[in-house]
Order: sequence, then structure tokens, then C-alpha cells
Amino acid sequence: MNKAIKKEEILNNMTLKEKIGQMTQVAPYFFISDSEATVYGALRNLNINKEQVYTIGSILGIGGPSEMIKLQESYLKNATHELPLMFMADVIHGYKTIFPVPLALASSFNPEMARIAGKISAKEAYSSGIHVVFSPMCDLSRDPRWGRVVEGFGEDVFLTGEMAKAMVEGFTNKGKLGKDAVACCIKHFAGYGASEAGRDYNTVDLSRLSLYRDYLPAYKKALEGGADFVMTSFNTLDGVPATINTFLLRKILKEKWQSKAIVISDYDSLTQIIDHGAAENQKEAALKGIKAGLDIEMASSVYMNHLTELIEEGTVKESEIDEIVGKIIDFKIKIGLFDNPYSGANQASESEICLSEEHMDLAKEAALESVVLLENNGVLPLKKKQSIALIGPFAKSRKLIGPWSWHGRNDLHKTLEETLKDNLVFVSEKASYGEYTDEEIKQIKEADVLIMALGEDESLSGEAHSRSNIHLPNDQEGFYQNFRKIIDKVVVLVFGGRPLILSEFKDVDAMMMCWFLGSSSSEAIKELLYGEANPSGKLPMSFPRNIGQIPIYYNHFNTGRPFDPASKNMYLSKYLDVANTPLYPFGYGLSYSNFTYENLSISKDSLKANETLKVSVKVKNDSDLSGKEVIQLYIRDYVAEIVRPVKELKKIRKIHFLPQETKIIDFELNYDDLAYFDHEGKLKLESGKIGIFVGGSSDKTLNKDFYFIK
Ligand code: NOJ
Repeated sequence: MNKAIKKEEILNNMTLKEKIGQMTQVAPYFFISDSEATVYGALRNLNINKEQVYTIGSILGIGGPSEMIKLQESYLKNATHELPLMFMADVIHGYKTIFPVPLALASSFNPEMARIAGKISAKEAYSSGIHVVFSPMCDLSRDPRWGRVVEGFGEDVFLTGEMAKAMVEGFTNKGKLGKDAVACCIKHFAGYGASEAGRDYNTVDLSRLSLYRDYLPAYKKALEGGADFVMTSFNTLDGVPATINTFLLRKILKEKWQSKAIVISDYDSLTQIIDHGAAENQKEAALKGIKAGLDIEMASSVYMNHLTELIEEGTVKESEIDEIVGKIIDFKIKIGLFDNPYSGANQASESEICLSEEHMDLAKEAALESVVLLENNGVLPLKKKQSIALIGPFAKSRKLIGPWSWHGRNDLHKTLEETLKDNLVFVSEKASYGEYTDEEIKQIKEADVLIMALGEDESLSGEAHSRSNIHLPNDQEGFYQNFRKIIDKVVVLVFGGRPLILSEFKDVDAMMMCWFLGSSSSEAIKELLYGEANPSGKLPMSFPRNIGQIPIYYNHFNTGRPFDPASKNMYLSKYLDVANTPLYPFGYGLSYSNFTYENLSISKDSLKANETLKVSVKVKNDSDLSGKEVIQLYIRDYVAEIVRPVKELKKIRKIHFLPQETKIIDFELNYDDLAYFDHEGKLKLESGKIGIFVGGSSDKTLNKDFYFIK
């Protein structure tokens, strides 16, 4: 930037009103709209006037590069200060080239896929003029009823942190920003994934212990990846809305983590503290926001309309505003906005870059790694000569890219019918057995294999899309069972944005969890069905047997009365009507290869705090197909002052194996991998026995123990 432009100079030249405007973010229609009514309606709703609009610091969402350029031009013409607008937008799993939904990406157990998704999405978003993406969501979630599980990386703190960090590094070019990179606003700080009963926006009541151990570390890792912004969450934590939660925003984020990130509210969440019952009116909301450390409000005008008064009264000092606006100016300088207010926005390059062959290939690569093979009795991979009947609600559907892809276009991408067409002898999207005629059933029976494309529509997950019943909708279980009875070979493809109850499908010949795989969904599924690619995804969330088991997650405590199937004692921790275990556990996923594990060894039987434990295991691909395996390392600290989970994931490696290839896989563990957070969030570890567990799923591991000596 022009060296003459300094933060202090800019600040000194600004009126208080102009400064406060920088702390507000609104949607583009406040500035450009074909309908005056929309603009004035919007202004009225926020109770702001046209003059205030031209002090606003940032925009939420943008239609494309031309719109961005037009808006920036008109803003700079009308504004009385010299700060260009900053553009922020939701780029969750792709801008125009859509990658698998984050929960699917997590199933790859391969942070490299998240990095690529971030990098490519950044390149496309940059060409449309976006500076900051509201991504990734770092909320850990253990309740599949919550619609937003689709936006996160699942139930485990380690996996969520690794994926989130890699995605941030991909988006931001490891925090360096510049051409083809965008900054990240990680979200939703904090604990949003623990919404009670999985109902969106609901109360969160977390113990400090669980907060430190399970929920906070992923946000921290994502910040270490180079995120510049943090978005607060809608929920309360310990009775205080996260948006005005001093403990979260000041004590944890700013003091403990020493983060300089700019804090932005979620959509209207500062005003919503009134509905929470945490402020009487907007003026009090504004005061609480400032005192808690909230820098920018999204889609509300609480700061705009009340900060001046609070400053005049002396309850808020102008220096507090200067500190916040100073950070915003610093960021605008950092991304080069003063040199080029339009940054990457360019209609021609956007058209060239977005949806390029290279991007589509990478989206397919990610999709191939994101599918989880849940069952297979040998019917898969299909043979080229086998004829297929394809039925069910997703047989001809274009709605495969998944929720939260506002620039993604379903209509551009192929359906399953279109990709599988060469071998199809019958296809129908009717989803009830009774609707099929005798003649149709005869044709289905004549096919070599029946593929049923089932699941929940992409509109059933995402924000405000919680479900209390996570069975497949519209009695697809009955639909399946009727065909199961009369058809020899049945393959089920399950689409969905959350773990679903699949107990009724256990007797299937093969089943794949396809989630929503983005732009290349149907191509990736085809390659996997035919064995042109080998499934390698693992589940990032446990799949319950029934809804009553929720919340169910692998890293639970042992309890004082752990269930033992061999025991005659009836007073053990269990249900009368269902097993404790999930239908499919965390980390589970089959392959067409057969991976075997042996010779787990550790470098020492006792370890001191400054030493490294080396762990190795022999993994063999005992098959004639090459494939990838996710080797998972868990630990268990058997006895501690604060009880620890029965298993905790600490390392993952995704490794490619040639047919019949054997590899020795090495890991290293240090103090930080073994230690745990206490009630104050301090890391600690007492002397004692620790177990190492290595395998291809959380429930199938080899074990070796060692002693940690303080
Ligand atoms: C509300 C959502 O909670 C958040 O994730 C999103 O980034 C904002 N709206 C902006 O669209």
C-alpha cells in the first residue's frame, strides 16, 4: 500500500460516526437493488439512514464480481471517508466448484482434502471480489439431530481441529493471503455444536472440562492455521450469550490464546441477546457487546444507533472504538484494499477460473475419498457387464451437491441416471413399493443388481434444519425392505447431511454413505461402484442404532459400572432395549482391499515428559487391489485425577498401498499428545499407565501399554 496511508492518519481523519460504521456489516441490497422499496425497507428495518449506510465497513455475501465492482464504486463515490468496503461471504464447501460437504470431507480423514477444498474455493472466491469467507465451522458436534452437523467435521476434537486448520491454510495460503487467497472467519465461537437436544439455536450447557477438552481446541488450531476473524455463536454458554460472553471473547480468545482476530457477531445475534433475556434493550446490547470484546455486528444496527450515546455518557470510551476500528483498518491495509479496492474481482477471470476442468477434477478427488463403504458382502465393485436397475428418490435427482452452496448450481452437474446410463436397464425415482407395477417389478428383477438411491433431501440439513427423527424420511425403510425380500443383489446409496438411522438396512448386500459430494457427486459414485476407485472414507461421527442412543460418541467415559456382556450383574450401565455400541462406530469404513494390522510396537515402556514415544505398526493390504487406508492412533490414560475417555484419537495417517503391499507405519507421541486439560484449561498429566491403540476403526485396534513417569 501507499506508505503514506497509515492507520493513525486514517483514524484521525474519521468522525466518530464513520468509525462506528466500520463496526457494522450488512447485506449488499442496502447499497444496490433494483427496487427502491427493498433498500428503503431494509434501512427502515435496521433503523438507519442513507448517510449511515456509507459509513458501513463490510458486506455480507455478494452476487459476483460485477456486483462487487459496482457496489465498491458507488460506495467510494458516496462515502465521506477513504476506507473501501470489505466483502465477506459464506463459502462453505466451494464457491462455484462445489466440494463435498464438510462432514463428508471429514470422512476422508485426510486434511489434505480440506486444504485443497480451501485453496480452490479461495481462488474462485477471490476472482469474484470476496476478501473473507465465513469458514470453516469448527464446532464439534455429537448430536446428529442438529442440522448443522453437515457443516462441521464431526464428533472428534482432533479430527475437527486437523481438518479446520488445513482448510484455513488452504483458504489463506498459510495466512499469507495475497492473490488467489482469502482470509478466514472461523465459527461459531463457541460450543454451538452442543445445542441441547440437537435443536438449532438452543441452550448450550457444557462443563468447563468438556469445553476445554472437546470443544475449544479446534477453534484454536484453526486460528493457528492463520484465521483473521472469529464469529460468535447464537447460543448461550453458561447462561451468557456467546456474542457478549466475556469469558469466551476476552478471557479465552484474547488473553489465554493471545489472539488478535477480529470478532464478528453471527447474523443479528447482538440484537438477539434481548430475546435471550440478557439485555433489556438495544442500547444495553451495544454496551455489553463492546465490553465483552465484540468488534463487528452482523446484520444489526445496535452499535450504529447507540454507541455515540454511550460514548457521550462516558460508559464507553472513544479509545475503545479506536482500538477496534484500528484493527479493522489494519486488516484492510493487510489485504491491500487501499491499493486496489476491487482486489481480485474480474468477471472474465471469474468465468475462466470457476468450474475449470482442474477444479472439477480436484472436487472429484475429494469426493472419492469422502464416501464411506458401510457394508459389502462382495457384490461391490460391480462388473462392467452387470445390468443395473436404479430406483429411489435420488435416482434422477440433481440435488446432490449439498446444502450451503449459494453459488453452486445443481443443474450443471450430472445425475446418477446420467452417469450410470450405459448399464441401466430400468430407472425410476418412485419411492414407494406400492407405486411400482408388476411389469416394472419384473424388469427390476431381471437386472443383475438393484441400486437403491435413498436418503434425506439436501434441504433437511443445515442451519435451522434440525430433525428429531433421523430415520430416512417417507418410510424408505419399508420401501427398501419390500425390494430386499424379492431381489437377490441390492446396493443402497445413502445421501444425507448427518448420520442417519440405518439399522433397517443391515441385511443389504452393500451400502455406501455418500453424504453430499459436491459438483462431481455422480461421477465419483460411479467410479467407486465400479472399483475404478477404492473407497477409503471413515465415519467422522458414530451412527446410532436408534434415536434414543443420542448423544453417542466413541470417546465417552468408562462409568463406574461399565457394561460387560459376560457379567451376570444386571446393575451395569446399559439399556434394556438396545446395545450401548453404535451401529457403525467413529473411524469405521470398509475398502475393497483388506487391510490387516500386526506387530504394534513402542520404543519405550516408560516415558518422561521431555521424551518422544515412537510407535510403529505393520499394515498389509491383503488384496489384489490398490487402495488407501486411514491408520488411526488412539490413547487411553487409564487413571488420572480427572477421569479420561476410554479412547482419544491422537494421530491419523492416510496411506496408499499397492496390491499385497506391506508397510511399517510410524507415529511419534509427545507430552502434549498425552496430556489433558483440567478444569482451568491447564494441561496436565500424572504418572501412570497409558494405552496405545492402533487400527483402521475406533472399535478395532491393537493395543500396547506404557508408563508415563513424571
Ligand atoms: C448465520 C450462520 O449461523 C453463519 O454460519 C453464517 O456465516 C451467517 N449466517 C452469514 O450468512
